[in-house]
Amino acid sequence: MPFTVEKCTEADLPRFFEIVSLAFRHDHEYIDSVFPDHDTPAGREAGAERMLATMKADINAIFLKVVNDERKIIAAAKWNIYDGVVPPKPELTGDYWKDGDEKEFAKHMFDGYLVPRCQDIKDSRGNLATLDMLIVDPYYQRQGAGRMLVQWGTAVADRLGVEAVVEAGDYGRGLYAQEGFEVLDKYEVPVPEKWAARRKQWFWWMKRPALAPAPKN
Ligand SMILES: CC(C)(COP(=O)(O)OP(=O)(O)OC[C@H]1O[C@@H](n2cnc3c(N)ncnc32)[C@H](O)[C@@H]1OP(=O)(O)O)[C@@H](O)C(=O)NCCC(=O)NCCS
Repeated sequence: MPFTVEKCTEADLPRFFEIVSLAFRHDHEYIDSVFPDHDTPAGREAGAERMLATMKADINAIFLKVVNDERKIIAAAKWNIYDGVVPPKPELTGDYWKDGDEKEFAKHMFDGYLVPRCQDIKDSRGNLATLDMLIVDPYYQRQGAGRMLVQWGTAVADRLGVEAVVEAGDYGRGLYAQEGFEVLDKYEVPVPEKWAARRKQWFWWMKRPALAPAPKN
C-alpha cells in the first residue's frame, strides 16, 4: 500500500474536488453553502474550476495529493503557507448560487469561517501555516493518508519556524492533536438573525506551536 505525497497539477483538480465532495458529504454547512450542489456533475465541475482559479491566483496555496501504488489519487489537502506575507482578505465571488439569498448566506459563511484565521495571519505578520482543507476518499480513510498530508505541512512550518493552524471537525481533531495541535476554542460561524434557524457551522480552532527559531519579522 505505499502512498506518496505529491503536489497537484491542474489536471488533478477535478479529482481533488470530487474527494472534497465525497469526504464532507452533506455534513458541513460551510461546504454545502459555499459549494452548492457539490454532489452533482455540474456542482463538481464548478468546484474544480474554482479550485483551478485559486491554484492560479494564490501563490501561497499549495495543493497536495496522496497517490497509491496504482497512481490513483486517494486523498488531498490544501495548505496555505505564509512566509512573511499578509495576503489580501479572500472574497467569495462568482455566480454559482441559485439566488441572491443563497449567495448572501454563502458569503456570510465564507467570511465568518475565516475570521480566526485572518486574525492570526495578521497577528503573526504573515508568518503562518494554515491547513485550509484535508480530505481523504472515504474508501481509503484510516490508512494513514490524512496524517501524511498533515505532516507535510507541519514539516514546512517547523522549517520556517512558524505556527500552524487548522479549523477542525470532530474527525480531524484527534489526528491534529496527535500531530501537535492544541484546541484553543470552539468557534461557531456567526450568521445574521434571518438565518438563525439554519444549520450552524462550527469548528475546533486548533494551533500548533512554532519550533525555534521564532518567526522572522
Ligand atoms: C479526518 C480525515 C482527514 C483523516 O484522514 P485519514 O487518512 O482517514 O486518517 P489517518 O488514517 O491518517 O488517521 C489518523 C488518525 O486520525 C483519527 N481519525 C481518522 N478518522 C477518524 C474518524 N472517522 N473518527 C475519529 N478519528 C479519526 C484517528 O485518531 C486516526 O488514528 P488511528 O487510526 O490510529 O486511530 C478523513 O477521515 C476525512 O477526510 N474525513 C472527512 C473530511 C474531514 O473531516 N476532513 C478534516 C476536516 S478538519
